[in-house]
Amino acid sequence: MSGRPRLTLGIETSCDETSFAVVAGGREILANVILSQTDLHRRYGGVVPELASRRHVANVVPLLRAALEEAGVALPDVDLVAVTRGPGLVGALLVGVSLAKALAWALDKPLVGVHHLAGHIYANFLAFRGQGPAPEPVYPAVALVVSGGHTDLFRLDGGRVEWLGGTRDDAAGEAFDKIARELGLGYPGGPVIDRLAATGDPAAFPFPRAMLDDDSLDFSFSGLKTAVLYELERHGWRDPARRDELRARLPDLAASFQQAIVDVLVAKTLRAARQAGARHVYLAGGVAANRQLRRQLAAAAQEAGLGVSCPPPVLCTDNAAMIAGAGYAAWLRGRRDGLDLDVDPDPPLDECL
Ligand code: KG4
Ligand code: ZN
Repeated sequence: MSGRPRLTLGIETSCDETSFAVVAGGREILANVILSQTDLHRRYGGVVPELASRRHVANVVPLLRAALEEAGVALPDVDLVAVTRGPGLVGALLVGVSLAKALAWALDKPLVGVHHLAGHIYANFLAFRGQGPAPEPVYPAVALVVSGGHTDLFRLDGGRVEWLGGTRDDAAGEAFDKIARELGLGYPGGPVIDRLAATGDPAAFPFPRAMLDDDSLDFSFSGLKTAVLYELERHGWRDPARRDELRARLPDLAASFQQAIVDVLVAKTLRAARQAGARHVYLAGGVAANRQLRRQLAAAAQEAGLGVSCPPPVLCTDNAAMIAGAGYAAWLRGRRDGLDLDVDPDPPLDECL
C-alpha cells in the first residue's frame, strides 16, 4: 500500500458486544455494526466469559459482511485492519484478534492491535458519514474514561497518553451494575438507573462521596455500594412485606446513588484539568452515556472556562468504529503488528492521542 490507509476495518470483541466498523480517513464512520449480547447474559446478572466467546464466534462473519455492505465496500478495499488487543476477556478478545490476523494475512494488509481505552477516548474524534466533519482534537486535554471495567483519568497532548489516576476498587459502571443487580433491575444496570433516576430526588439519601476532599485523582466506589446495600437492609429490602414500600422509593434511591457517583467523577475531572493545565475535557466509555454525568460535566466545564466533548451515546458503549479510528492514529505513528499479535487482558496504554 502506498500512502495513508483510506479504509480501516475495526473489530471489537473485548466483552459482550460484537462489532465491526469501516472508517474512512480515520475519522469518518461509513459503517458501525454492533451486536449486543445483553440478552444472553442478563439472566446471570453479568457477562459469562465462555458464553461471550462462543457468541462472538457465531456472529463475527455475518457481522463483518453486514458492516461491509452498509459501508458499500468490498473486503479487498480495506487498507488497514485494527482490532482490540485488550483490556478485556481473554477468550472474547481472542476471537477478534484471530479473525483480524487471518484477514490481514489473506488480504496482505497491515494489522494494528488497539488498546480498548484508547478506542473509547478516540470516539470523541469521529463523525458519521454525511454528518459534517469530525471534531479536531483540542490539546492539552483531560479524558475521563468510565466504563464497566474502568474509571481512569488521562492527560492528552497529542503525544503518549499519560495516566493521572483511577479507581482503587470498583469501576463506576461496575457500581451501577452491582446495585442494579441487587435491586433486581437487570443487566446492564447503568441505563436502568439512569432512567429511574430521572424522576427521583438526588438529595433523598445522603450517600457518601468517597475521596472527594483529598488531593488525589483516584476514585473509590466500593464504600458507596456498601452504603446503598446498608440502606436497603435498613428499609427491610429482604422482607417481602416491606419491599413494596421501598420499591416506591426506587427513583429516589437511584437518583441519590447516581448523584453520588456523578459528583465525584465531575469534581475529580475538573481537578485533573486544573492540575494538567487542560483546555478541554473529553468524556468516554459506557458510563459516558449517563445523562446526569453529561449534563453536570458540561455545566462544570463551561463554568471553569473549559471546552467539553462527549461522544453520542452509540459511540460511548463498546463499538468497532472507535477501534478503527484509534488503530488508524496508531498506524500514522508507525505502529505495525505482525501475525504474532497476542491478546492481553491488561496491556499498558502506550498509544499516542
Ligand atoms: O464501555 P462499555 O460498553 O463496556 C466496557 O468496556 O465496560 O461500558 C459498559 C458499562 C456498563 O457498566 C453499563 O452499566 C454502563 O456502561 N452504562 C451506563 C449507562 N449506559 C451504559 N452507566 C450509567 N448510565 C448509563 N446511561
Ligand atoms: Zn469499553
